[in-house]
Amino acid sequence: MYSPALKQLIEHEIQLEFQAAYTYRAFAAFFDHPQVGYPGFAKYFRGEADDELKHADAFIKYHQSRGGFAPHDGVPKVENNLTPLAAFRTALNMEISVRDNIVAISDLADPQTVTFIDDYLKIQTDSIAEYTMLITKATRVENNPGGLYLLDLELQK
Ligand SMILES: [Fe+2]
Repeated sequence: MYSPALKQLIEHEIQLEFQAAYTYRAFAAFFDHPQVGYPGFAKYFRGEADDELKHADAFIKYHQSRGGFAPHDGVPKVENNLTPLAAFRTALNMEISVRDNIVAISDLADPQTVTFIDDYLKIQTDSIAEYTMLITKATRVENNPGGLYLLDLELQK
């Protein structure tokens, strides 16, 4: 049964996906600024934002197929003073929140939701590992402009 508690968690999930998409788009715009000059980090976060919008759309489609209506509430504010390391740390925390919410959904899931949610748990595990790796790399070169330049180049590919 698509219980009210499960519905609420799915609606929260939709909001988390939109928040991640909006935040990553803001990160992309910041890194793409001519006075910031990190096109690789910009490209990376633009792609991440595209993925988050796809996740939001998938959860909306599922939610609506079960009779729910999609929330579009509140967008987070992004500071215009950002380092790549800070961006990756923020992203990791957002992805951990998404993972925790998906685990909560799994705990309440009916059989239809179990089938739907399965892929997203794997996506979160991969995403958390990827941001952890990027934090490791960005920490290594945190105070090294040449290293940051190389990491930016790596992400432009
Ligand atoms: Fe996502």
